[in-house]
Amino acid sequence: MATVPKSYGNVAAVLEQIPARLKIIDRPIPKPGPDEIVVRNHAIAANPADWKIQDYGFPITKFPTVLGSDSCGVIVAIGDSVTKFKVRDRVAGFAGVIYNQDINHGAFQSYTLLRDIATTKIPDNMSFEEGSVFPMAMATSLIALHVCLGIPRSTGPITPQQSGLLIWGASSSVGTSAVQLARNLRFKVFATASPAHHQTLKSLGAFEVFDYHDSSVVDKIVAAAKSAGTPITLGFDSVTEGISFKQAADVLTASGGKGGKLVLALPQPEGYAPEGIEISQTIAARSFMDQAELGKWFFNDYLQDCLANGSIVSAPRFEVVPGGIQAAQNALDKLKAGVSGTKLVVTVDCGHH
Ligand SMILES: NC(=O)c1ccc[n+]([C@@H]2O[C@H](COP(=O)([O-])OP(=O)(O)OC[C@H]3O[C@@H](n4cnc5c(N)ncnc54)[C@H](OP(=O)(O)O)[C@@H]3O)[C@@H](O)[C@H]2O)c1
Repeated sequence: MATVPKSYGNVAAVLEQIPARLKIIDRPIPKPGPDEIVVRNHAIAANPADWKIQDYGFPITKFPTVLGSDSCGVIVAIGDSVTKFKVRDRVAGFAGVIYNQDINHGAFQSYTLLRDIATTKIPDNMSFEEGSVFPMAMATSLIALHVCLGIPRSTGPITPQQSGLLIWGASSSVGTSAVQLARNLRFKVFATASPAHHQTLKSLGAFEVFDYHDSSVVDKIVAAAKSAGTPITLGFDSVTEGISFKQAADVLTASGGKGGKLVLALPQPEGYAPEGIEISQTIAARSFMDQAELGKWFFNDYLQDCLANGSIVSAPRFEVVPGGIQAAQNALDKLKAGVSGTKLVVTVDCGHH
């Protein structure tokens, strides 16, 4: 096991209790367990879960903690059983604090512990900011498509899928990752987003994109699927906001009929129970838990290969919230206020601490 350099401290944005603002403190640099990696973060992205935990706690029960699920940087130490990675590799990882409640596994600090199975090498031409954008969103979509919707993973040449796939809220972080995974699985992707993002989503692989503000959006999607010859029996509501769940369920009912499957990003909203549609919720952390084998295949092999050959790109676009880790709270406040097709990122300058 390589030793962690002692020259820089570990600056951390710590949540001491809830509710509370993040507090900047120095923490010890974590040491890796057998299957763990210590990454010196260069960029860290914010997720809605971070501000939600800060407001409500769930699912974190252990404080103090460090929030953050998206880490990107350079490996400075590896555990004894890590074989896929070495010191100095440039990597992105889905940091596991939400699954294991371990403060060392939170992203908003200079050094984060990553599980090797949730880590992927990024190409030389990908910036750390770009690399921080997608790990958690990808894990969320991975579980949504391959576990909740039961789509087999791709291990060889894939023939075009018979069903269309609906992705509601496709300009979100989770949505853009789902669009790319579904496109690679050769689905005709019917997506919804604000018009400003339609072109980008088509370039990421959406077949057709619809404005969810349009009052006849459901009818338009159903008609488009019919004329494309691919009724929609599978759907992912990747935002689960407002009436999105009902609209997505209505598309499946009208297009594919009974027997469709719809996966949600959040728990099923109360007050509406579509008949004949199987509803489930994705949980990104399952890629560490009961779906660890799938997660390992994805992060260590599939995603890494796709990033290298360009069949998955960093999306959505990122915006740096200036001020380093000290700006983590600003990033969470800004995310809570709402973003459109944008990932908020803080950058880390460990060398000048
Ligand atoms: N279950 C899990 O494990 C898990 C993991 C990660 C995230 N999540 C949850 O998934 C949700 C999405 O996360 P994220 O990081 O992808 O969010 P995000 O990028 O911050 O979402 C912002 C996007 O949501 C879109 N949007 C808002 N309301 C919409 C609506 N009614 N219909 C369609 N699109 C709408 C906006 O689209 P336009 O700008 O185009 O209007 C915007 O681009 C959050 O609730 C998050 O907590 C769950």
